[in-house]
Amino acid sequence: MTAPKKKKSLYINIAFLVTSVAILTFLFNAPEETTSKLPHDEDHSRFAPMKKKEAEKFCAECHSPEGVCPLPEDHPPKYRCLFCHKRD
Ligand code: HEC
Ligand code: HEC
Repeated sequence: MTAPKKKKSLYINIAFLVTSVAILTFLFNAPEETTSKLPHDEDHSRFAPMKKKEAEKFCAECHSPEGVCPLPEDHPPKYRCLFCHKRD
């Protein structure tokens, strides 16, 4: 290996390090997840063992304008409920 080539790879390594630190800092500063979780009650407990896509078919039974618990007016786009409202 020649000397100039070595120097170049040093710069690449430094650039890699700087980028990594920047990305990590960004991730650590990301806001906490605040979207409400799926409640643990009779209405929702039956969804725990289901596949996400399976469970989501039932949400609109209650969470629709005619249901017992309509979504708020300003609710974000709502397909795939469980990607945002996590079960745990
Ligand atoms: C049988 C009716 C029913 C079904 C089906 C149902 N929900 Fe609900 N849900 C409710 C009711 C009633 C409330 C309000 C009272 C409560 O918090 O349990 C509610 C509340 C919620 C909340 C608000 C929790 C909070 O912190 O305020 C979320 C999120 C939610 N449901 C998501 C879902 C999702 C996602 C599905 C489908 C997987 C679903 N629900 C299916 C009746 C239902
Ligand atoms: C893109 C993310 C996203 C998706 C997808 C989504 N929601 Fe929400 N939902 C939110 C946010 C953000 C709020 C605002 C209040 C909060 O933080 O819970 C909310 C609020 C709600 C509320 C009222 C909760 C409360 O605390 O008053 C219910 C009920 C609810 N969503 C049910 C659903 C159902 C059912 C679906 C699927 C049909 C769904 N959501 C899909 C992000 C989402």
